[in-house]
Amino acid sequence: MTAGLAGLLPLRMSFEKQETMIKIIILSLAAITAFSVRLFAVIRFESVIHEFDPYFNYRTTRFLTEEGYYNFHNWFDDRAWYPLGRIIGGTIYPGLMVTSAIFYKILHFFHFTLHIREVCVFLAPLFSSFTTIITYMLTKELKGEGAGLVAASMIAIVPGYISRSVAGSYDNEAIAIFCMLFTYYLWIKAVKTGSIFWSALCSLAYFYMVSSWGGYVFLINLIPLHVLALIFSGRFSHRIYVAYSTVYVIGTILSMQIPFVGFGPVQSSEHMAAFGTFGLCQLCAFAGWLRSKMSEENFQVLFKSVIAVAGLAVFGGVAVATFFGKIAPWTGRFYSLLDPSYAKNNIPIIASVSEHQPTAWSSFYFDLQMLVFMFPAGLYFCFKKLTDHNIFIILYGVTSIYFAGVMVRLMLVLAPVMCILAGIAVSSTLNTYMKNLDVSQKQRGKLAKGGDRNYPYKNEVAWGVVAILTGFLMTYGFHCTWVTAEAYSSPSIVLSARTGDGGKIIFDDFREAYYWLRQNTHEDAKIMSWWDYGYQITAIANRTVLVDNNTWNNTHISRVGQAMASPEEHSYEIMRELDVDYVLVIFGGVTGYSSDDINKFLWMVRIGGSTPEGSHIKEHDYYTPTGEFRIDREGSQTMLNSLMYKLCYYRFGGVYTEQGRPTGYDRVRNSEIGNKDFELDFLEEAYTTEHWIVRIYRVKPQENRGQK
Ligand SMILES: *[C@@H]1O[C@H](CO)[C@@H](O)[C@H](O)[C@H]1NC(C)=O
Ligand SMILES: *[C@@H]1O[C@H](CO)[C@@H](O)[C@H](O)[C@H]1NC(C)=O
Ligand SMILES: *[C@@H]1O[C@H](CO)[C@@H](O)[C@H](O)[C@H]1NC(C)=O
Repeated sequence: MTAGLAGLLPLRMSFEKQETMIKIIILSLAAITAFSVRLFAVIRFESVIHEFDPYFNYRTTRFLTEEGYYNFHNWFDDRAWYPLGRIIGGTIYPGLMVTSAIFYKILHFFHFTLHIREVCVFLAPLFSSFTTIITYMLTKELKGEGAGLVAASMIAIVPGYISRSVAGSYDNEAIAIFCMLFTYYLWIKAVKTGSIFWSALCSLAYFYMVSSWGGYVFLINLIPLHVLALIFSGRFSHRIYVAYSTVYVIGTILSMQIPFVGFGPVQSSEHMAAFGTFGLCQLCAFAGWLRSKMSEENFQVLFKSVIAVAGLAVFGGVAVATFFGKIAPWTGRFYSLLDPSYAKNNIPIIASVSEHQPTAWSSFYFDLQMLVFMFPAGLYFCFKKLTDHNIFIILYGVTSIYFAGVMVRLMLVLAPVMCILAGIAVSSTLNTYMKNLDVSQKQRGKLAKGGDRNYPYKNEVAWGVVAILTGFLMTYGFHCTWVTAEAYSSPSIVLSARTGDGGKIIFDDFREAYYWLRQNTHEDAKIMSWWDYGYQITAIANRTVLVDNNTWNNTHISRVGQAMASPEEHSYEIMRELDVDYVLVIFGGVTGYSSDDINKFLWMVRIGGSTPEGSHIKEHDYYTPTGEFRIDREGSQTMLNSLMYKLCYYRFGGVYTEQGRPTGYDRVRNSEIGNKDFELDFLEEAYTTEHWIVRIYRVKPQENRGQK
């Protein structure tokens, strides 16, 4: 391909210029591919926003562009968490919204009058292009231009990253990965040069990262880890000292300007490693200075005693501060990173999110394919020529592979380093073997005569290796496009399924239901649903919800869980208490949509039973005596009479769903429901969408006293 490209370029160009041109062309191709491969969903459906969280981000972005930053910053949202409300400005990472608002303003300045939704939909693909370019720059610093180009082409299509950055997945991660790699790039620059300029830039990039994603905690632990590794391997130098001190001080001060982060960087345990390393850096620098002024013996004595005293003082200080509650204990999400079983045993709210589950082995292959095998090779090449910056990428690789194993969601942090290391591996291997290829006829003649005694079949081996690598890269390309098209390009708000004859049906029930709410209910109506749907209801239907995915008050969520899990009359009391007007449930029994509320029901039971008020809710009451969760005749009575069961299966007993099956046959659970003929006493059906996926019920007002 390179030769072909070279043919296209003007002949008069010098060889170096041609090479540069080719590099630029390859890199731009990679960046364009990164953008366009993420547009499958837009081509197939329309530019809709996917998933749940993005709807919240979209709503806040719209607010920001309409009302300005000041109002956004002070926004108290009374549409969510009724009756508590939520202070939005202080509880989000604003980087994403501000970025889109800036793009929006720039476009409008040049009279491209795009709707803010379009900006939101296309932001993630755009930033993936930037990520591709920054990966090239980072890998170039680590290894060389060749490796950079390979890594950039790989990250452009790696499924592990695509999964979170297709058009329409408007979430923090969409820009955070770019910020993260950008910060790493500047950090490597700072370490290499030891200049305050690069270090200051690095802390600015770090600030952008902090403003956009909670995952910055990984970054602020990785950089100190790098510094520690350098100190302990005797590579500490002035460059490291300047780089780290600058980055830590400026970065920390800047990061504290984000209201949501606040005093975290100086109080919470997650940031203590960075602080400790900062202290150690000062000690090391001081020791270095003393050593230059003293005899070696005196220095050793002094050094040991100072280390002992300082260690004791730090340890004592941390212990005292923890004791008096000055240092917050680790947050649950972070703790579950260190001990994977922690969340499962202690915090149902965290455990119930599928993204916080440990990763299955197969998904490593699914999301990374060949990279899994090239990764160790890349590590090998880094170890072979250990430098300050190689140590960084090694640490990044090893820690992120551990974290990705603990939590599916962190696959996103792993994917870039996999690409970088694979890029290094591929380009180093090619470098070695390409040299052994002799293409020209003359050399071949020579070889045939003399041959290379020490290395027989040199040429053939080289051809073999190159061919195998090419094969690897090609399967990688096919795998990536296939995964993207099949798995990561369906917006979860518009569902699609294949019919028996290979056609496609689209279920647009979610939007149907939300528009119904918007048009047909009072504008102050309170809607109760499980927290997954809260963001979409506020964003699309513009109605008040009780809980949403910002799980800030577990008691409140638990209250909703109790309402769903209790029998109707008890639920009615809770709903009266919370002023609920409508209840919305998601039901897949007719279509076979499996992530519906019945399948999430056990989480509602667990979360509902996790507070003192819900102590009457016991998980084992919802199982059959043999410990199964069933909805047919064998199912437990508590289950068959819970509010959730009744709302999902109301009138379902008379419906035929599949040929050759009795009425009331649930296509998700594959069984006939156990409780068919029942009436609702305190609620009435208000609306059911075309495919029954969303069902909405009105809570009847309380009867006047003395009528009965
Ligand atoms: C949502 O409803 C409120 C009050 O009914 C109204 O003031 C506001 O403009 C609506 N927002 C949107 C985006 O339609
Ligand atoms: C809830 O929020 C978390 C964190 O933002 C996200 O990872 C998860 O996908 C969300 N869950 C749902 C059901 O939207
Ligand atoms: C959480 O919700 C409960 C019940 O709705 C309420 O009593 C409590 O005050 C809330 N907690 C906070 C911190 O607002």
